[in-house]
Amino acid sequence: DSIKVFCPATIANISCGFDVLGLALDTVGDLMTVKKQQEKGIEILEVTGQDLPKEAHRNVAGVAGMALLQQADYNGGFSISIDKKIKAGSGIGSSAASSAGAVWAMNELLGKPFTRRQLVEFAMEGERLASGVAHADNVAPALFGGFTLIRSYNPLDIIHISPPGELVATVIHPQIEIKTSDSRKILKTTISLEDGIKQWGNLGGLIAGLYTQDYDLIGRSLEDHIVEPIRSILIPGFDALKKHSLEAGALGCGISGSGPSVYALSRSLATAKEVAAAMKTVYDKLGIAYDLHVSEI
Ligand code: HSE
Repeated sequence: DSIKVFCPATIANISCGFDVLGLALDTVGDLMTVKKQQEKGIEILEVTGQDLPKEAHRNVAGVAGMALLQQADYNGGFSISIDKKIKAGSGIGSSAASSAGAVWAMNELLGKPFTRRQLVEFAMEGERLASGVAHADNVAPALFGGFTLIRSYNPLDIIHISPPGELVATVIHPQIEIKTSDSRKILKTTISLEDGIKQWGNLGGLIAGLYTQDYDLIGRSLEDHIVEPIRSILIPGFDALKKHSLEAGALGCGISGSGPSVYALSRSLATAKEVAAAMKTVYDKLGIAYDLHVSEI
């Protein structure tokens, strides 16, 4: 009556898909142990690695878990222990990993009464607590793996896309924290038709590139004319990171989720490592502390 799960970090937006596109990293993530217990409700037993609230209603795993419990035919509750490896406010889906991991584990322990789409809906409640907006572009890839496209939020319509085999992600996290709620406040609420045309051209191109494993098309499509120009101002050395990543062979480079992490996608592990070395050089020169990950998707 106990399960230990890997809760993957995720890259939301992927440049051209603000709030609708995301991918899961295979080798970066938290570990979570969930146990059934007689006592009703959710008990957060332990959180290591990060200083996060343990009251269930203030913890994203607790809130997502309670959303599931409300719909479940089950009289007991669950205890949760989380070993956080993903830093809060890093832009690689820290809250989503906890929300998704909790509901995934509970569903397994209950004999899988819920569909993955329903699990996404429960996990979105954790995102609502974390950022004020129940966006699904981190929790969906955390639960489905690979890439996910949220075609529609209402009703929720999620399309899972298997990752092209050779795609590898590089992610650098400057050691500053940007709250998603703050980096959403600085965005404009309207866009021009001209920017819209560029953005949906790229989004369509990226999806086509993923399905046909056309790496050049994927690279050409990794552009963001709407959010990146605004948010990149908050990220130290963003332009240099992007320039040097592309020069090192990355297909594309942009902001991971709401930042401050910056991601690049490359066509092989070797290139992804060269991109990592290029990013490292940029931050070493600027004297900025960072975490650096290279991960399959
Ligand atoms: N789509 C969300 C945003 C992701 O960019 O605000 C947050 O991780």
